[in-house]
Amino acid sequence: MKIFVLHGPNLNLLGTREPEVYGSMTLDDINNKLMELGGEWGAEVTCLQSNHEGALIDALHEARAWANGVVFNPGAYTHTSIALRDAISAIQIPVVEVHLSNVYAREEFRHVSMISAVCRGKITGFGWRSYTLGLRVLIEMAAQ
Ligand code: DQA
Repeated sequence: MKIFVLHGPNLNLLGTREPEVYGSMTLDDINNKLMELGGEWGAEVTCLQSNHEGALIDALHEARAWANGVVFNPGAYTHTSIALRDAISAIQIPVVEVHLSNVYAREEFRHVSMISAVCRGKITGFGWRSYTLGLRVLIEMAAQ
C-alpha cells in the first residue's frame, strides 16, 4: 500500500512559521513521523511539498499511477484553487484534506474550501496529528 502526503505553500517553514498556530514541529519532523507510522501500519509513505500550484497539480496527476490515497494539506490554495479541486476530481484515488489549525476558528476566508466537496473527508485542527489521522483513515479504507 502506498500513500502520498502532499503539502502546499509555506508549509516548508513549519517550526518557525507562527508556531502558536501551526506548532513547533518542522516539516521534516512531520514527514519522518508519517513515514515511521506508515511503516508500522503497513504502508509506504512518500512526502512532497511545493509552493507552486502547478507543481501540486502535476504531483496529483502522477499519484494516479502509483498511490492508493493522498493526504493533502493545500495551505492557502485550499481557499482559492479551483484548479486543485479539478485535479482532485480528475484522479480516481481518495484524497483526505488536512489542516494543522482549526480553519473554522480562524478568519472567515479560511472557512471556505474549494476542495472539501471533492475530497473523501477533511481533518482540521489537530496540529501534526491531523496528518496522522488522515494517514490512518486512508490505510484502513484501502485495506478493506
Ligand atoms: C493551513 C490553513 C490555511 O488556511 C493556511 O493558509 C495554511 C495552513 C493549516 O494547515 O492549518 O497555510 O492549511
